[in-house]
Parts: sequence; structure tokens; C-alpha cells
Amino acid sequence: MNAPPRVPLARLPTPLEPLDRLSDHWGGPRILVKRDDLTGSTLTGNKVRKLEFCLGEAMALGAKRVATCGGIQSNHCRATAIACAQLGLSCTLFLRSEGAPGAADGNHLLDMLVGAEVRFVTPEEYRTLVPPDDAYWIPEGASNEVGMWGYLAACEELKGRKFAALVHAVGSGGTTAGLIAGKALFDVEAPLVGVCVCDDAAFFRGRIDGILRAAAMRWPKLGKLPPAHAMVELVDGFQGKGYAKNRPEEWHLLREVAEIEGLILDPVYTVKAMMALRQMIRDGRFTKGEEVCFLHTGGIFGLFPKRAEALA
Ligand SMILES: Cc1ncc(COP(=O)(O)O)c(C=O)c1O
Repeated sequence: MNAPPRVPLARLPTPLEPLDRLSDHWGGPRILVKRDDLTGSTLTGNKVRKLEFCLGEAMALGAKRVATCGGIQSNHCRATAIACAQLGLSCTLFLRSEGAPGAADGNHLLDMLVGAEVRFVTPEEYRTLVPPDDAYWIPEGASNEVGMWGYLAACEELKGRKFAALVHAVGSGGTTAGLIAGKALFDVEAPLVGVCVCDDAAFFRGRIDGILRAAAMRWPKLGKLPPAHAMVELVDGFQGKGYAKNRPEEWHLLREVAEIEGLILDPVYTVKAMMALRQMIRDGRFTKGEEVCFLHTGGIFGLFPKRAEALA
């Protein structure tokens, strides 16, 4: 297939590791974690797979500058800034901040260290952001028909595998869209379960369908990609207090997984996805002999600005 150009950025394939002590502790199925938090140290997480294609296209088009946007602690913006530095590209980040941003911390600190140009915008300005016309523009979360290829390609690492579910966090829909497109291609037999960490399932169905439609138009060889409602169970009820906000029970779970497995989840995405998985296990959805795949999509740097909450 005529895949879009790709630049190697991620350490691949990422490991698939059993969490046997956690599985025993919860008395459920065998949980295997796909360690996409190990795509790199600073280039950690799901965005790195997407950026291989977005920045591949930017380079192919001869772009010298890349621009993108996200929250002040955006994992996507940090990964873009670092990848651009590695590729010798300039990078401009539009970071949404309510009020004064304060001392650079977590992802924002890394943005600054690699010399990204950071422009702070208010939530109102963010909603009507106009991409600069002198830069290759990557939309929020690299969730478009190009970034989607990251998770389409990732499915090859799970080729022929069978799971009772593939559980992952949904924040802008690109990971899910890629998994939908790649699953059938690489014969991955696993019902997709996407846990919404913000907005709701109806919103993300529209978002994901938009990405899939754009991909099918641009790469007709992908065939007719089925709509999200037929391909993924989008789960509501775990958004908690809202995007990037945490409840004590989420911190409790984050620490439980850390103590039992030495696996650090992030507070914005993966802890909410794990809350959902634990609930499904409690509800008796899986049997003991089954295997469930949990996609760890990274996000560790988002922990540091929340240090006081994390230890409370
Ligand atoms: C750590 C992490 N996990 C999960 C997600 C969600 O992925 P997507 O935006 O592709 O839905 C994001 C970004 O939004 C993320 O930064």
C-alpha cells in the first residue's frame, strides 16, 4: 500500500508484558500491557508513533517549521518539540493556559529545554486558533488521517494475537482510528474498548469517523473503513472531574498499580483507562483464562506538576 512517508522516532516494537501480580490481586483475566510508554525516554507515549508519519510528511514536503497545539501539559506538544529538535526542524507550540502559566514543569519544561517557541493562548483564543501559514500544521493530538497511521502500523506488532479486549484511553481519537484501520489488516482479534477521558462517546464517535473518512479518501486502498460504532466500544463514566483533573480514587489506583507492578500510569489518560478496566473485571466481564491487552500510552511527565496531589 502507498503508505505516507515515515521518519523513525520510536523504539519499536514495544514490549508486551504480563501484569500477573495485578491480575491475581484483582482476580480477573490475565492482563498484558503493551508498553507504548517505552517508545523512548523523553519521546515516550502514543504520540511518537503518530509523529513518525506527521513529521515524515512534513519532511517530505520540505517544511522547516512545524506548529501544533495542546494544553500546557500536552504530551503531544512535548513529543513534537523533542522530535522536531531531533530532526533539525523549528517548532512552535500554542499552549492553552488558564491564567499565568507559572514555572515550567513536566512537559512544558521539556518544551522549553529543546528550544520550542511557546505561545500561550487563553481557552477562548485556543478555540479559534488559526494555524500559521508558514509552518506544517499538526492538529491537536496528531489525530488526523496522517497521524492515524501510527496505530495502523502498530497493529503489526500484535499480528495474529487474540485478546478478550484491547483497552486504551481516548483523548482526541487518533489512536482509536488507527487501531480500527490496522486491526483487520493485521488480523488482530480483539474487541476495542476506548475509555473517554474527556468529552463523551458520542463526541468521539464523530471525531473518529471523521479521521477514518479522511483516511479512506486519501488512501483508497485502505478500503471502506467501518464506522466507529461498529468497531469500538467507547466507554463513558470515567472522565471523573474532567480533563486533566483527578479524584482521590484515581490517585489510589495509580499508586496501587505502581506498588504492585512497578508500572507508573499517568494521571490524565492511562489511570482513567485502568479505572475502566478494573470496573469491567469487577463486573465479571472476563473469565480467568482470558487475556486482556491494556495499551499504556505514556504521559509520565504529566505527573510532576501534580506532585502534591499524587502524594496527598
Ligand atoms: C498519554 C496519552 N494517552 C492517551 C492519549 C489519547 O490518545 P488519542 O489522543 O489518540 O485519543 C493521549 C493524548 O491525547 C496521551 O497523551
